[in-house]
Amino acid sequence: MSSSVIVFLVLSMLLSTGACVNFTDVFKSSWAPDHIAVVGDQVTLTLDNTSGCGFESKIKYLFGKASAQIKLVEGDSAGTVIAFYMSSEGANHDELDFEFLGNVSGEPYLVHTNVYVNGTGDREQRHSLWFDPTADFHTYSFFWNHRTIIFSVDEIPIRVFTNKEEKGVPYPKNQGMGIYGSLWNADDWATQGGRVKTNWSHSPFVTTFRSFEIDACDLSGEDIAAAGAKCGKMAQFLWDKPAMKGVEKSKKHQFKMVQSKYLVYDYCKDTARFTQMPKECLY
Ligand SMILES: *[C@@H]1O[C@H](CO)[C@@H](O)[C@H](O)[C@H]1NC(C)=O
Ligand SMILES: *[C@@H]1O[C@H](CO)[C@@H](O)[C@H](O)[C@H]1NC(C)=O
Ligand SMILES: *[C@@H]1O[C@H](CO)[C@@H](O)[C@H](O)[C@H]1NC(C)=O
Ligand SMILES: *[C@@H]1O[C@H](CO)[C@@H](O)[C@H](O)[C@H]1NC(C)=O
Ligand SMILES: *[C@@H]1O[C@H](CO)[C@@H](O)[C@H](O)[C@H]1NC(C)=O
Repeated sequence: MSSSVIVFLVLSMLLSTGACVNFTDVFKSSWAPDHIAVVGDQVTLTLDNTSGCGFESKIKYLFGKASAQIKLVEGDSAGTVIAFYMSSEGANHDELDFEFLGNVSGEPYLVHTNVYVNGTGDREQRHSLWFDPTADFHTYSFFWNHRTIIFSVDEIPIRVFTNKEEKGVPYPKNQGMGIYGSLWNADDWATQGGRVKTNWSHSPFVTTFRSFEIDACDLSGEDIAAAGAKCGKMAQFLWDKPAMKGVEKSKKHQFKMVQSKYLVYDYCKDTARFTQMPKECLY
């Protein structure tokens, strides 16, 4: 066996530790199924002047990890938004958002993240990326347990939301969340503050998701309360082990590097917006 084959085998073993889920088993379309195409484990979302589209998981989850590889809209994506998010839905929803804000050809995408607890968001951050997200697939993921929520890009943490309930900051932990993906027109706000509109002569706009991995506590079954009690028990799941209380030591320097080089907006620094800074920003 040549050394390159051995390297390949070792790499594929490392890469295949999490099991990919079968898209059609786990997800269904939430709107405009005619704009969604599933081929193997790839799902392609299309936005044109008639509609965008979206998909959602069939069940909700309470704590765990979820990721997808996504290739964003190529070329002129101004006015379009691709979302990959978790939500409990409803007026008092908890939600974790990745929103990818398109741009005119050659200008960079922005990654907008938000955390909603019990219906209240207003916790936006925006990051630029250290690669062209339209050229290839990259992995975007959520990690969620009782203590912390981590948003990662290619396994590099870009945002951490820590449980500060003891300081009176609400934390999402009482509601299961589904996993969603969508592509839609948001040219009233998305690109350069809404100044650049979607140029429909460049439609259809297309994005592809693939290789979904979900390692989370599922809230399916007849007895949701019992499922919730099971998922809520700490320390029985991998994601709730004491070691998983924040960013792994080996990744702390990467997180700091992203914060210093790629964070372009942080609500916690926006003193013009808040007369009283949100509590989680103070501690
Ligand atoms: C996913 O599961 C469906 C049946 O639920 C099956 O028809 C399809 O071939 C599976 N797809 C892949 C990529 O394995
Ligand atoms: C939408 O796009 C199609 C094809 O590009 C075009 O024929 C049609 O006129 C457009 N409709 C609207 C409402 O702009
Ligand atoms: C969520 O918000 C509602 C008001 O919209 C409030 O009545 C309820 O107590 C809140 N729940 C929690 C867990 O804070
Ligand atoms: C789009 O490109 C402009 C110019 O480079 C930049 O200021 C902006 O942050 C980019 N992203 C969005 C979503 O507007
Ligand atoms: C939209 O794209 C077309 C084709 O590239 C171009 O001719 C036109 O000027 C663009 N419209 C705007 C408003 O930029």
